[in-house]
Amino acid sequence: MPLFNVYPLYNVTPVSGKGIYVYDDKGTEYLDLYGGHAVISIGHAHPKYVEAVSNQVAVLGFYSNAVQNPLQVELANKIEQLSGCAAYELFLCNSGAEANENALKLASFKTGKTRVVAFDNGFHGRTSAAVAATDNKNIIAPINAQQEVTILPLNDIEGVKKELEKGDVCAVIVEFIQGVGGLDQGTTEFFETVDKLCKANNTMFIADEVQSGYGRSGKFFAFQHYNVTPDIISIAKGMGNGFPIGGILIHPKIEAKFGMLGTTFGGNHLACAAGLSVLNVIEDQHLMDNVNVMSEYFIKLAKTIPQIKNIKGRGLMLGLEFDFEVGELRKKLIYNHHIFTGGASNKKLLRILPPLTVGKDHINQFFEALIEALTEVENNVIAN
Ligand SMILES: Cc1ncc(COP(=O)(O)O)c(C=O)c1O
Repeated sequence: MPLFNVYPLYNVTPVSGKGIYVYDDKGTEYLDLYGGHAVISIGHAHPKYVEAVSNQVAVLGFYSNAVQNPLQVELANKIEQLSGCAAYELFLCNSGAEANENALKLASFKTGKTRVVAFDNGFHGRTSAAVAATDNKNIIAPINAQQEVTILPLNDIEGVKKELEKGDVCAVIVEFIQGVGGLDQGTTEFFETVDKLCKANNTMFIADEVQSGYGRSGKFFAFQHYNVTPDIISIAKGMGNGFPIGGILIHPKIEAKFGMLGTTFGGNHLACAAGLSVLNVIEDQHLMDNVNVMSEYFIKLAKTIPQIKNIKGRGLMLGLEFDFEVGELRKKLIYNHHIFTGGASNKKLLRILPPLTVGKDHINQFFEALIEALTEVENNVIAN
């Protein structure tokens, strides 16, 4: 049976990974500055993670949400401790889209309203309400298009005010650092005013931290760079270091009712063990400090490369903008220099999303290769 052909694939077959590196079926080593879409937070095959997941699967991989699961409680407490989001409650699911779908659903339950405000170039996943709030017509099927969504330009404070005052908006959903869109960020005034407007208009403010959360921005959550209090915070990618797990942090103003949300797999024992070990490693290895140090170092080196016209993002969620489309450059980096980087909707942007354990040597390796790859692109050297 052939695979449903929805992904344009690079011709590389990783079969193992260790730390910042992955290895293909021929034994070639690749520097992973992409972490499989910002997923690998503590490095590939981290020994503590391997131990925690192996031990858990050996005793109990799964049981349903019909019984007590102390691992969920432990995970919730650890998220609270590391994030400082003390008053919130946790609901666990399996992916980023599902986290946002549940967030939007809760906002609608809480307010009794139906319309969502989202922003240009935002990406929130592919389930029904989440994809409708995603600014990409190509991935919205007719069945999703019946959702009521208004997409506004980022930083359009007046637009948000006008829409919220109409009284039918259940949620404003925003990425504090846009991922797939290309690392754009709203202004402080925008985020803080939107937060106030939501509170004044009985609209839930949803922080989509699926990509920017879990320390990647240099704080536990990217919204913590601002003075805002989101009503719902969605999390996923870095949470399980590759094990599928997502969730939402829910402000106590939203009261739980039995049956309001639910899932078979969400919060299962194996997922919780993976999630807990990620947080333990983030804490024990002081990875948020490392993010800040490495981010500064990366940006310092990036500023020495004249072809880089703009450096976007924060922490280890960075974008290097060129004045040409970077598709060919990414190919040179992969095939000639064995380095994974990411692309974005902004075709001139190279996305850098390494594991949070990245070190100066890896960054040096990247910039040495980038200088050569840029020359290869200029001279049109074929990627081999
Ligand atoms: C900000 C953001 N939200 C939601 C999602 C969807 O997550 P998933 O692919 O796990 O459904 C993504 C994925 O790229 C994302 O970057």
